[in-house]
Amino acid sequence: MRIVHVLGTRPNFVKMAPLIAAISRRMPGADQTIVHTGQHYDRLMSEIFFEQLGVPAPDHMLEVGSGTHAQQTARVMERLEPLLVEDRPDLVVVPGDVNSTLAAALTAVKLEIPVAHLESGLRSYDRTMPEEINRIVTDQISDTLWVHSEEALRNLELEGIPAERAHFVGNTMIDSLVALQDRFRPLEACRQFGLEPGSYLLVTLHRPALVDGPLLFEAVAALNEVSGAMPVLFPVHPRTRARLAGNAELAENLHLVDPAGYLEFLSLEADAGAVLTDSGGIQEETSYLGVPCFTLRDNTERPVTIELGTNTLLGLDPARISEIPSIIAARNPSAPPPQPPPLWDGHAADRIAEQLARMGPVT
Ligand code: UD1
Ligand code: UDP
Repeated sequence: MRIVHVLGTRPNFVKMAPLIAAISRRMPGADQTIVHTGQHYDRLMSEIFFEQLGVPAPDHMLEVGSGTHAQQTARVMERLEPLLVEDRPDLVVVPGDVNSTLAAALTAVKLEIPVAHLESGLRSYDRTMPEEINRIVTDQISDTLWVHSEEALRNLELEGIPAERAHFVGNTMIDSLVALQDRFRPLEACRQFGLEPGSYLLVTLHRPALVDGPLLFEAVAALNEVSGAMPVLFPVHPRTRARLAGNAELAENLHLVDPAGYLEFLSLEADAGAVLTDSGGIQEETSYLGVPCFTLRDNTERPVTIELGTNTLLGLDPARISEIPSIIAARNPSAPPPQPPPLWDGHAADRIAEQLARMGPVT
């Protein structure tokens, strides 16, 4: 079987690493080609993930870079199409919900090349999120849908997608975390920043609805206030860094730092007193780790993390950040950590590889 994997952004690398490895193990004869669209390109947003996750270097770099949605999507399509025409793989795999995902799926399906979508079926039911459009379109046009939770299966059913296209395989982002536990658990990366495990609030914010307008500065003001009660460590996404542009006043205990490498970030998450985020993947990782997560959004495409009790939806309301220290203080520290959702067990990629090995080339 000849498989082309198309990856473009930080969360894509985390989701795809275990799948590429599992296919190599289970189907040693499979020919895997990795195409990096270049949507993310800074070393700390891209290369470091390949190194730490042991993903082979990409076979093709499309170097699409940043731009508007249409520019980014169009550049991926233009640059990927000739590769797929030449290669004619049996399957194109696309992960997640970013512009590279949609672009690659559209390109492949119009060449009548089967497409598999990893992390299919998530829905925020908020069409102002670019990711929601990417998810809906990608799921509609993909042939094989790999799903990580029961609610995602239900979402697909509600959209009339035939059940035989969807496969409940589990969560490959958790596979990556589980595979690297022995490496990140002892790291105590927080000490690099002079912080004690369990003492600090870890923050990531990068959604346009929050960071592309004045709410970002309201959030920084609220974090300044919270940092009086617990130190705040904020590895800043480049989108957010560009919006802040040095214009925010920072309290002494609010530390804005570069994006963290994957191992370092997992260590920071595992040792955090709490996490504040608008990330999708981080809602999942904190749920697995049993670390309290506060999501600064009005909705989530990952309600399973709320049901589990680890994740609290604060709303798109920076004023609520100030409630975090008292919410944590009111928690029972000896409560047992929640059980992860079904099939978030470190073996999702093996299930997918097994399915691919059984089915042979997708027709
Ligand atoms: C993208 C995804 C989002 C995902 C996030 C993961 C879309 C529509 N959005 O958002 O779903 O949660 O990735 O992190 O696909 N930049 C750099 N260096 C880089 C990458 C980006 O400086 O290596 C800056 C550029 O100024 C760029 C901005 O970040 O314009 C936004 O990058 P982009 O890839 O367009 O979207 P993200 O916000 O990263
Ligand atoms: N991550 C990281 N360093 C950071 C922030 C996040 O390695 O500074 C990892 C995190 O552990 C998770 C993934 O990046 O695996 C989440 O990516 P992001 O929040 O950018 O995207 P989203 O999941 O929201 O699409």
